[in-house]
Amino acid sequence: MIDASFDYGSRGQVVVVRDAAELARETVDLALTTVIAAQAERRWAYAALSGGSTPKAMGEVLARQPYRDLVAWHYLHVFWGDERWVPLKSPESNGGEARRIFLDYVPIPASQVHTYETEGIDPAASAQHYTDLVRSIVPAETEGGLPRFDLIFLGMGDDGHTASLFPGTTPIHEEKEIVVAHEVPKLNTTRLTFTPPLLNAARMIVFLVAGAGKAERLKEVLEGPERVDELPSQVIRPTNGELIWLVDRAAAASLRIADELPRG
Ligand code: 6PG
Repeated sequence: MIDASFDYGSRGQVVVVRDAAELARETVDLALTTVIAAQAERRWAYAALSGGSTPKAMGEVLARQPYRDLVAWHYLHVFWGDERWVPLKSPESNGGEARRIFLDYVPIPASQVHTYETEGIDPAASAQHYTDLVRSIVPAETEGGLPRFDLIFLGMGDDGHTASLFPGTTPIHEEKEIVVAHEVPKLNTTRLTFTPPLLNAARMIVFLVAGAGKAERLKEVLEGPERVDELPSQVIRPTNGELIWLVDRAAAASLRIADELPRG
């Protein structure tokens, strides 16, 4: 159940729910509605997931009845908006974890689950391969010829990052490539990530944000001045789509709308 919904203009629609469990349920509802609508209109639906805790909780709900049977899995393609440079079998792998938590248990054809290649290939080649994959499968319906996802789920890190667009890194300003590999010095690691042009071409982008640890950063991202280098989540502004922030009460606690939320 939704507590309340607030219009943050070009920064999106903020939808508040009670807690993380409610967030998972609402995420499932939103995913179902969006996928069903896309399939009704265009037969196929194209979705991208992120890493982090919330998509996992959504997956657990989706893999169970009655939800499992409500999705036309045969007409759905699943991608990831970012990936860590680890083997698919690692618990750190976004794609691997989503498969182990739910995609291996639902009737989606394996050929429609598009995890990144992270073994026996170098990061730049893997990013190029994923670029080609996205371009060959996801229809480009935008003026600039960018593939247009029906739905992209994103998380927001405590430092304001989203997908693998970390503060101070160059992909925040990428204009040409749609998927890149890059070093994240802060984490001393390599990441693969969708870039802003691909993310912002989507029909719908949904941020999933839960927990008190996100409250101050969420306030900065939604209500503070625009500082995309420090707060990469601010670079998400769909060109011709919808932006929804699905947040729990704890994460919304510092927003100016907090007084209008139910207590407890
Ligand atoms: C990743 C992610 C990342 C994640 C956020 C939020 O692979 O690291 O895709 O962008 O979504 O860090 O994660 P939580 O929701 O678990 O805080």
